[in-house]
This record gives sequence, structure tokens and C-alpha cells, in this order.
Amino acid sequence: MADAAQRGLGPQAIINLEALRHNLQIVRQLAPGSGIVSVIKADAYGHGMLQVARVLSDSDILAVARVSEGVTLRESGIDRPILVLEGFFELSEIKSAIEHRLQITIHHTRQIDMLETLQGLADNALQFWLKVDTGMHRLGMSVEEAHKSLARLQQLRCCSGTPVLMTHFANADDIDTDFTLNQIKAFRDFSAQYDFPLSLANSAGIIAWPESHQQWVRPGIMLYGASPMLGIKGPDHQLQPVMTLKSQLMTINHLKKDDCIGYGSCWCCPEDMPVGVVAIGYGDGYPRHAPSGTPVLVNGQRTQLIGRVSMDMVTVDLRGIEAVEGDDVILWGKGLAAEEIAESAGTISYELFCGVTSRVRFEYRG
Ligand SMILES: Cc1ncc(COP(=O)(O)O)c(C=O)c1O
Repeated sequence: MADAAQRGLGPQAIINLEALRHNLQIVRQLAPGSGIVSVIKADAYGHGMLQVARVLSDSDILAVARVSEGVTLRESGIDRPILVLEGFFELSEIKSAIEHRLQITIHHTRQIDMLETLQGLADNALQFWLKVDTGMHRLGMSVEEAHKSLARLQQLRCCSGTPVLMTHFANADDIDTDFTLNQIKAFRDFSAQYDFPLSLANSAGIIAWPESHQQWVRPGIMLYGASPMLGIKGPDHQLQPVMTLKSQLMTINHLKKDDCIGYGSCWCCPEDMPVGVVAIGYGDGYPRHAPSGTPVLVNGQRTQLIGRVSMDMVTVDLRGIEAVEGDDVILWGKGLAAEEIAESAGTISYELFCGVTSRVRFEYRG
């Protein structure tokens, strides 16, 4: 208990920077012939964009979703090439992108209309990636539109550099469908007439679809140590978890058979038993929908959540567990894959990582 009192009780996200470097090396091993675009949007999937950007200085390009994220990186002294995956929405963002040397995704003809209205931009001021929709049906131009757009863009002096042609996979996490092969084929057919670099693969493409690697791969979730593949966990691909979310046991209650726990009294003790109260809840980003039975590690021993998750606390089964108040509890990370918690709570590891709130203390190690 003394230890916990010194550190202060409460949730912590330990970010293992060594693991981040290791995972980048795994990407290099899997796609040795490709440049790496490390995706660090949404605060590096909740891990801290600036800290992650500094550690990933070995990747060729950093990618964010929005111009504002790219500007934040530049203003914080990050000098590596930066790609904005959603491109610009308005004129002011074009100027900002040029000023901050951001590479831009063009996915809509409206963006080209805007560029055509701008006079006096320097030759090759804007490095662009053209996004083609091959089946995701979210962002990206149809193949016909993309051919016409490339012709228009080649007339613009500000876009005179070599573009990268890109597409995004909808189902690459599922190796039992040929949807991804169809996307690869559609993209190959589209791009065959150009001598431009190509980019298709997200983490699932890197892991499961080597034919998609081409000149640029775009890993996101695998850098953070989680697997994008259905039913598989990061360590199965030699990935190491970067974030460990942990807290401490605040109280151990010795409850009687038929005592029910927490809001809704929805879990009742089948026998006299010890129940731990852990200082973490949905106010810290632990998913409220995690049901009883979701695994946790108490003092390194695997047990389960019981009762409803509340804002600041969860309750855990301590039957057969050696524990005293103040002991560490790991909610996900080292020894307990976030994918397991995500599956139990009906979500994905991406959302768990992004959902950790500012109340949690972040500590960067390595
Ligand atoms: C265009 C694009 N490329 C790559 C990625 C990285 O995906 P993942 O985290 O699944 O590797 C994303 C993430 O959503 C994306 O939008």
C-alpha cells in the first residue's frame, strides 16, 4: 500500500517506446522493399502523437488525418515528411499545407476545383497522393474520375511533382474473403498506365497481403502492438504492446453469498468471496460495456471483471487470487492483449486506445 500511496492511486498508461521501435522493425521485416508511412493520427491512436512521432523518426513519412494535426507536428519541431490522409477541405488549409510542407491526399474533384482557383503558387508547391476508391466506398474517386483528375492535376504547376497513387482496403483483416484481392486487381488495372509509386497496405495488408506492399505501406494499429486480423493478437505476429493501462486495488471487500455488486446489482456472489475494487472506470476510458467475465490481471494473476463498470471504479473477482490493497491491476497491455478486452466489450483495440481520457497519467518509458 505504501508504494501506491507514494505514486498516488489511479490509472496510468505506461507507453513502452522500445516496443514501438520494435514494432516498426517488424513492419520493415514484413515489407522490406517498401517505404513506411507511420499512421499517427488521433493522437497516435491515443498514445501521444508528439512522443510517438519523435520515436518513429526512422519511418519515412508520418501520416495524420487532418491538416491541423500536421500543423501541430510542425509547430512542435517535427521535421519528417508528413502526409494528410483526408487532405484539405477549404482554401485556408491549402495555404497551411504548403506553408508547413504537408503532403496532401486528393480524394475529391472539389479539391481540384479549389486548386485551380489559386494563382501564383510555386511550381511543385504541393506534393499530392491521389486516392482511388476500389471498394471501400468511403473516401476516394472512382477509377474514371481518378483518370480525369490526374490529367487536370498535371496541368497545375503547383502539383507538378510525382504523385503517389493510393487506395484503402475495406476487409483486409479477413483472409477468408477475396474482396481484398479484387481491390488489389482493380487498383493494378487503374494504375497500370502510370509510372507512379503506389500505396495500398494498412496493417492488415502488410501482415496478410504481401502482393499489396508496393512502394509505400501505411501501418497504424500494428505499430502500437495490436493485430488488425480477426481473432488474432499482436504477439502472434511478434508485435509488442505499446500501451499498458493499469491501476490499483483500492479496497478488498469480503462479501457474502448472494450479495450483489455495483449499479443495477447485476452480479451476485455465488458464495462468500473476496471482491476487489479497482480505481478505473469509463471516466478513464475503460469501456462501460465490458461485461462480467472480461479478463484483468491482478498482481500478475488473471481474473475477471464482475458487475457493471462505473465512472471511476470496476470490481473484480479475487477468488483464488493473492492480492492486497494497493496491488497493481492491468486492464490491458503487457500480459493481457487489448484485443481480448475489445472482443469482450464488443469493440476493437483501436477504439480502446483512442478512448483513454486525459484523467489518466501517461508515462513514457524507453
Ligand atoms: C488511409 C489509411 N491508411 C492507413 C491506415 C492505418 O490503418 P491500420 O491502423 O488498420 O493499420 C488508416 C487508418 O485508418 C487509413 O485511414
